[in-house]
Amino acid sequence: MKINSVELDVSAVRRSQYPDEDLPEFLMVGRSNVGKSSFINALCNRKNLAYTSSKPGKTLTLNFYYINKEFYFVDVPGYGYAQRVMTQRMDFGRMIEEYLKSSENLKKCFLIIDSRHNPTEDDILMYNYLKHFDIDVVVIATKVDKIPKTKQHKHLKNICEVLDLPLSDVMLVSSETKQGIDKVHQIIEQYFLFLIIIFFFSSYNYL
Ligand code: GTP
Ligand code: MG
Repeated sequence: MKINSVELDVSAVRRSQYPDEDLPEFLMVGRSNVGKSSFINALCNRKNLAYTSSKPGKTLTLNFYYINKEFYFVDVPGYGYAQRVMTQRMDFGRMIEEYLKSSENLKKCFLIIDSRHNPTEDDILMYNYLKHFDIDVVVIATKVDKIPKTKQHKHLKNICEVLDLPLSDVMLVSSETKQGIDKVHQIIEQYFLFLIIIFFFSSYNYL
């Protein structure tokens, strides 16, 4: 996938602030500091598009990145950051729930987890929550550059067992070395190919 243009279009905290454009949206969710914003940068081949930090709690709003004037990546605050005050955690929870309930343009959610560890209780809860909303979820196990190559498959197997998913449904990725990024690009391309096929068949029937 070739990324020709990227820009931060909107930072939103409520529905009325979401972009007006009726374009597909790909959402990134995951624990605070897991690497959501870095994953967006890696997908866009940019270093500093989305702000990242070694300290958790960097992303504070729903950030809509406008890609190739065709679709959006949506970055959101992470969950599970214990140092956050309770009211702020509730605000983030509400903000994300409002988005999940109301965004008709959400086409796929990338659930980002840390490849070094088994999914946390919060990760499992989030996975089930997304499934409850009937959202198409792709699990991205990131920071795989921190695991020796010989051990990566074992980590993948453990993650799949905990989430009860086939090996093909979880992707090992590194935003640092770009391992696995091509495969994620392919998933996005397949989505657009699927749209073209649907369009082709619907026009054919129409004629
Ligand atoms: P919040 O916005 O606070 O929820 O965090 P986030 O999930 O957006 O994480 P962010 O992208 O800011 O990354 C957190 C830290 O992890 C940063 O120090 C990144 O450099 C580092 N990081 C992210 N992805 C990778 C990766 O694939 N490999 C390595 N080695 N480090 C990574
Ligand atoms: Mg972030």
